[in-house]
Amino acid sequence: MNTPNPPPNRRILLIDDMPSIHEDFRKILDHRPPASELDAAEAALFDRPAARRCDGFDVDSAYQGREGAALAEAALQAGRPYAMAFVDMRMPPGWDGVETIEQLWRIDPRMQVVVCTAHADHPWEEVLARLDVQDRMLVLKKPFDLIEVSQLARMLTAKWDIARQSESQVTSLEQAVQELRATESALRQSNSELELFAHSLSHDLRAPLSVMSSFSGLLAKELDGPSDKVRHYLSRIQASAALGEELIEGLLVLDRVSRTQLSIEPVDLSGLSRKLLQEYRSSDPQRDVSVEVQDDLQVHADRRLTQLAMKQLLDNAWKFTSLREHARIEVGMQEGEDGEPVYYVRDNGSGLDAAYADKLFRIFQRLHTINGLPGTGVGLVTARRAIDRQGGKVWADTQANEGATFHFTLPSVPRARSVHESRIGRSETGVPS
Ligand SMILES: Nc1ncnc2c1ncn2[C@@H]1O[C@H](COP(=O)(O)OP(=O)(O)OP(=O)(O)O)[C@@H](O)[C@H]1O
Ligand SMILES: [Mg+2]
Repeated sequence: MNTPNPPPNRRILLIDDMPSIHEDFRKILDHRPPASELDAAEAALFDRPAARRCDGFDVDSAYQGREGAALAEAALQAGRPYAMAFVDMRMPPGWDGVETIEQLWRIDPRMQVVVCTAHADHPWEEVLARLDVQDRMLVLKKPFDLIEVSQLARMLTAKWDIARQSESQVTSLEQAVQELRATESALRQSNSELELFAHSLSHDLRAPLSVMSSFSGLLAKELDGPSDKVRHYLSRIQASAALGEELIEGLLVLDRVSRTQLSIEPVDLSGLSRKLLQEYRSSDPQRDVSVEVQDDLQVHADRRLTQLAMKQLLDNAWKFTSLREHARIEVGMQEGEDGEPVYYVRDNGSGLDAAYADKLFRIFQRLHTINGLPGTGVGLVTARRAIDRQGGKVWADTQANEGATFHFTLPSVPRARSVHESRIGRSETGVPS
């Protein structure tokens, strides 16, 4: 994206009716030998008056305002604009300095101007009111010092260069932004096409799978005393059809997350987590799971999506602690680096190697090595999408055999009182045992 800077512009236009002033300027700026042969050749090639190179500057002379404006026009047309002009205030019989500057800026508003004057014919207030001076005009009172002219030339040509460089940087930034916008809209388009494709595919696959499932069931009933082998084959068909249906159901839920209309409201994350955990406990009453849910976890969020995300995280916490004799699941909030609330679901289950922490959120990834645990690998991707859609983030922190912590952010509401923890293990309130 870095555009090389153009060479510095050292072109100066001097407009004054007194030939001796032109000589003075050249003396002031000219510290080098007279124009070289190369300059003469260049002048002949471009069909313009030979400019004398002064202190690295290219000075062109005009003796009347109109003539100066014509030079400025031609220079601009040729793509070699002047960086600055020294303009005399009194130039009878033609335009005066004010009129000349007005015309110069009409031609090239970027030109820096120094008005050279012994006394102003117009009061300065009038000059300023007539010209749109901005920050592009300085006044040089005659008689002037050599150093004033040479420093003005250096500073104002450098100012012109800096302004052009920043213009070109702004242009390339604007181009980059435009390209990004185009890429973003192309990505959005292809994303929504992919979503549509996944949606129709899931719908279309569902029907043949349920046909397979129900007909293999009917076939099992019809067969009179099937052999073990036949029974095994049939159960494999039914299990595969059921898994296929589960996968599709998962994909459809994922699809709904993307399509759902957000409805943001205060959501009691503590209550929601306790309710879900209570359901697991009811369906698995023999397990020893100590549960700790922080009080007063309030978020401003979409209730359905938040519940869906919490369900996926708690499902996993419950499932991947199933081999622990004393399982522990915690839901809480800590402050992030910038003081923002970061919620978490922590368990002391099987965990995973930290190297897998990012892979967990990819679709159909089932990374655990414990056989027999159910799952299709769409839970976490669904949780991530539900949190992403609400402008939050989710990430995992896990070590093999050391459990896992899933952190997430969601918009929060200001809390009236401070959060305090309450242990609500098997025998405590919140998630009754
Ligand atoms: N709390 C956890 N502890 C250890 N591993 C986890 C935990 N949560 C997720 N994982 C790993 O990440 C994988 C992906 O999780 P995800 O929830 O997407 O799928 P799943 O639970 O296997 O199936 P599904 O949620 O679709 O029923 C899991 O298969 C497991 O390997
Ligand atoms: Mg899961």
